[in-house]
Amino acid sequence: TRKIIIDTDPGQDDAVALLLALASPEDFDILGIVAVAGNVGLAQNAKNALKVVELSGRTDVPVYAGCERPIRRPLVTAEHVHGPTGLDGPDLPEPTMKLQDQHGVDFIVDTLRKEDSGTVTLCTLGPLTNVAMALIKAPDIAPRIREIVMMAGAYFEVGNITPAAEFNVYVDPEAADIVLTAGIPVTIIPLDVTHGVLSFQHRLDAFAGLGNKSGKAVSEMLAFSERFDLEKYGGEGAPLHDPCVIAWLLKPDLFEGRNINVSIETTSELTRGMTVADYWRVTDRPRNALYLRSADDEGFYALLRERLARLP
Ligand code: BDR
Ligand code: CA
Repeated sequence: TRKIIIDTDPGQDDAVALLLALASPEDFDILGIVAVAGNVGLAQNAKNALKVVELSGRTDVPVYAGCERPIRRPLVTAEHVHGPTGLDGPDLPEPTMKLQDQHGVDFIVDTLRKEDSGTVTLCTLGPLTNVAMALIKAPDIAPRIREIVMMAGAYFEVGNITPAAEFNVYVDPEAADIVLTAGIPVTIIPLDVTHGVLSFQHRLDAFAGLGNKSGKAVSEMLAFSERFDLEKYGGEGAPLHDPCVIAWLLKPDLFEGRNINVSIETTSELTRGMTVADYWRVTDRPRNALYLRSADDEGFYALLRERLARLP
């Protein structure tokens, strides 16, 4: 099993990613889930994380709250995508589980210092604020991180919050820059991948047809995102972003990518948060990321169905 910390701003697609990880105890030892401000404010994201953990029945997994806002910028949220609660769609009960008292950034630092060096993987599904703050507070943790797998960025596919930028990087570009220049092994799952795994109606029906609460909730979550995306992208099916992070760790054969340099635009207002990905290796900037480009969508959805079927 691989030790992971999941940093997240749930978010329907974050919730599906969490459920995929929570349904896979033979693959993952989830040391903790840390909420960050992003899709909606921190308190609501943290509450959503608790709801999802309770839905999965895995109340052994602790949930922390991290940073309330990006490092240098006012928070930008995405209620227009995810609904006012951040997790519109299913009617999930109010959580009874409590948040941990410790700050999420301190949890990340302490865990990386406590666990054997090179054994903990960070999975980031939202803005990179918490991980960047942990690196600023405790630079000694950088070489102890096994790797970071992040949903972030866009290259061939254009941005989704501005023409140039993907939401997670746009919200906190300074954080993304700090993380990508810290010398840590990184895998990036950009919109190029997530727009290849579309939530067609037959796929939602298959989740609903699993016959469990989790499958029903997932189909309701994704039906919500899809309503929005039908208008935005003008086609059937919505991209399913964050579960790709977990699926990559479970079944890397489903994905293809390339080791390249990825740098973050932090000064321009027009292209704020752009992931400048040197896909054709036209600079001599150091390769700092495995940048995934495509996924086997049938295999991805089969994996999701198989794992979600195990949950309550
Ligand atoms: C990312 O932005 C969020 O709205 C989603 O949860 C995903 O992490 C996609 O750009
Ligand atoms: Ca997210």
